Order: sequence, then structure tokens, then C-alpha cells
Amino acid sequence: MLRAAHIRSMGSPGFTRAWNRGVCRLRLELDKAADLVDDMAVAIVDARRRDVAGVRRGASRLEPLTQTRRETAYRLAMAAEFRDPQMIGHLERVGVYSELLARRWGMTRQRGEQVRVASALHDVGKIGIPDRILQKPGPLTAAERAVMQRHTVIGHALMGDLGDPLLDLAASIALTHHERLDGSGYPHGLRGPEIPIEGRMVAIADTFDALTSVRAYRPAFSEGRALDVLEQGRDSQFDGTLLDCFLAVLPEIVQAAA
Ligand SMILES: [Fe+2]
Repeated sequence: MLRAAHIRSMGSPGFTRAWNRGVCRLRLELDKAADLVDDMAVAIVDARRRDVAGVRRGASRLEPLTQTRRETAYRLAMAAEFRDPQMIGHLERVGVYSELLARRWGMTRQRGEQVRVASALHDVGKIGIPDRILQKPGPLTAAERAVMQRHTVIGHALMGDLGDPLLDLAASIALTHHERLDGSGYPHGLRGPEIPIEGRMVAIADTFDALTSVRAYRPAFSEGRALDVLEQGRDSQFDGTLLDCFLAVLPEIVQAAA
């Protein structure tokens, strides 16, 4: 079970091993009740529809329980990992990379920590994507890709409009981490500064980690090859200034990934 001390030590090899052990154990439990995550997602959405005001009051009362809120956020990220084995470790690494990038860009330590936790929720909307698409080993069809792209708006719907700063940030990142500077991204085709800075950060961190991770249909890219891909997207897909910040903290990122 993920505990408070693990949250505080996030990024260490020990944390990563503990995280992966916890995910594997919980995946076994999920196998015994395959519909559990779907039911949870439906329940969350239903609860929001029924009593958004009540949820807002609850969030306000829970404001001082920062540790509990952070741990709850990570449990939600783990729920997304249950649905897609390829995501095990990915969400946590993207959180760590995004925090390093945010700090280099100039955000405060407190904001950097918020970015780390919120970034780990960037793909939480995948809990609403059917298994036949999410776990398909081969390339997706155009129709399947359109369904998959909905993980951005599902994540935003799950976490947004609750009046909680951390979840508001997570919802914004979930919605915008696949937008591209030139407007060719999704779901809304936002351009340049229309994309929140945190969404632009996670776009870089997410792509780098995805490329340097093994996938069912390809081996992991080398660090150099992944950086070449990022460079090809400079100022079209990725924010060039943030890409420079990412390159500046690359040694720390590589160390965190080890
Ligand atoms: Fe995503």
C-alpha cells in the first residue's frame, strides 16, 4: 500500500520499486473484480452531477489535509495504471520530470510540487477508455484513435470544477497535454500561449518518457533518439524555451528514471 513516506520520497529508486510493487499487488486484486474501476469512474461522475456544491464544501473542509489530498491524487493515478500495464511507472516518472522542468523554468518549490502531483494524473482519463482500444497491441484505427483521444476530456471531467487548486491544475493538464504549439494537437487545437504552461511542460515530459519506454510494438528509444524527436517538434509541437529547460535538467531526469 502506498503510504505518506513514499510520497515524500518520490523519485528515489526505493519509491519506484515500492510504487511498482503496490501497483502489481493492486492489479491482482483488480483482476478479481474487472469492473471495479469503471464503476468508480461512473460513481465519481454521478456524484459530481448530483451534488457539485456539496463536493466543493467538502474540498474546502479538507484543505489542511494536504498529505491526504496528495495521496488520494496518487491513488487516482494508480487507478489509471490498472487499466494499462504500459503506464506502470510512467505516470510517476512524468510527475518527477515535470517538477524538475517546472523548477528549472522558475516555479517555486511549492508550485513545483503541485505540478509533480497534478502531472501524475495527466492520463487518468484513460480509465474511461474501453480495454479493446486501450490495450490493443497494434496500431489504432482512425476511429479508435478518436476514442483514445477522449481521455483528455474524460480526465478533465473527472477532476475539474471541484474548486480544489490541485485538482483544477490536474484537470487543466489532463485536458491540454496533447495540444501542440502550432494548433494541430487535441482536443481543442489550442495554439501557443493558449496552452497552459503546465500542459506544455507535461507534453515534453510525457513524450520523452513514452519514447524511452518499451512498448508492445517497439523497443525503447535511446535517450539521444528521443531527444531528436523532441527537437524535431521544437516550436511546432513543443515550447522551445521549455525544451531548453528540459535539456538543462536532463542529467537529473535520467538519474530519476534509473
Ligand atoms: Fe495522454
